[in-house]
Amino acid sequence: RLRVLSGIQPTAGSFHLGNYLGAVRQWVALQETHDAFYAVVDLHAITVPQDPAGLREATRLAAAQLLGAGLDPERCTLFVQSHVPEHTQLAWVMNCLTGFGEAGRMTQFKDKSAKVGAEHTSVGLFTYPVLQVADILIYQADEVPVGEDQRQHIELTRDVAERFNSRYGQTFTVPAPHITKGAAKIYDLQDPQIKMSKSASSPKGLVNLLDPPKTTAKKIRSAVTDTGTEVRFDREAKPGVSNLLTIHSALSGIGVPELEEKFTGQLYGALKTEVADVVVGWTTPFRERVEHYMADPAELDRLLARGAEKARVVASETLSEAYEKVGFLPPR
Ligand code: TYM
Repeated sequence: RLRVLSGIQPTAGSFHLGNYLGAVRQWVALQETHDAFYAVVDLHAITVPQDPAGLREATRLAAAQLLGAGLDPERCTLFVQSHVPEHTQLAWVMNCLTGFGEAGRMTQFKDKSAKVGAEHTSVGLFTYPVLQVADILIYQADEVPVGEDQRQHIELTRDVAERFNSRYGQTFTVPAPHITKGAAKIYDLQDPQIKMSKSASSPKGLVNLLDPPKTTAKKIRSAVTDTGTEVRFDREAKPGVSNLLTIHSALSGIGVPELEEKFTGQLYGALKTEVADVVVGWTTPFRERVEHYMADPAELDRLLARGAEKARVVASETLSEAYEKVGFLPPR
């Protein structure tokens, strides 16, 4: 079995539709065919300031959402990043193998630091992608299921893995990105030129999976489209309509060409109404499942502890091997 590893930040409470369609949905499918490791990456979350109590709750809520989306702890290893200290222990080595300029070219870092301003940019934010490198390599992952926005970080991971292997001898699997064609980038409903994201989207442009159905339906019905009338997939000329078609298709399983045919002669309003129905049809039972998991935090914590135990078996083995290759004297 090939191995996959991926992670999601607990930061902002509810996951959004981009997180689900771009990444988490693939995680659910891959647990059936792969040896799958999935982490709630709380260490990454503190690269920008977090309220401690809020972070703790958001971490549980993230785990509950992953379970609600269909992850099964019997079929995958689901854990919290900070419970597996080997990630940070390997990250140090990876920091020493990453060029300062190389890290400075990461577009997510450039965007984020520009947004918060130089004086609020932590060294942690700068070295964030290197911790991600360690997350992936410590499990010897073959593939990393993510949305399009993470492609550059996976490229960095490949480069650093190859560098380590050529300097110290074959140690790490060089991982490939696993990015799906259709829904790898879901766009903001109000500005379909930018990706849907917690930090950049306006509240109206962002579909939170835990929003009440009415809120979600309203946001979708007021999505920005264009001055035309034809329901057709055309990323350049009709970014808003194309985004809605992508969302519909991803959740309904109906192909985009079939949807175009179905909506022939109908106006955008009909498309929006149906997309709203499809999305709410998925989020409503999802919310119920998440509430069910959140109602028993002790069980949730127990399940995460078991996940961390499983993860550490693999992580500690890789760490020992890497530390030995680097030339650290083994502790006796
Ligand atoms: P994060 O928490 O920002 O996002 C989690 C996943 O959601 C995907 N995603 C999207 N996909 C499609 N359309 C969108 N609008 C959209 N917005 C977000 C992201 O691509 C991601 O797959 N750095 C990572 C977390 C991480 C990680 C890792 C991932 C830490 N260590 C190791 C993989 C492997 C991040 O911030 O994801």
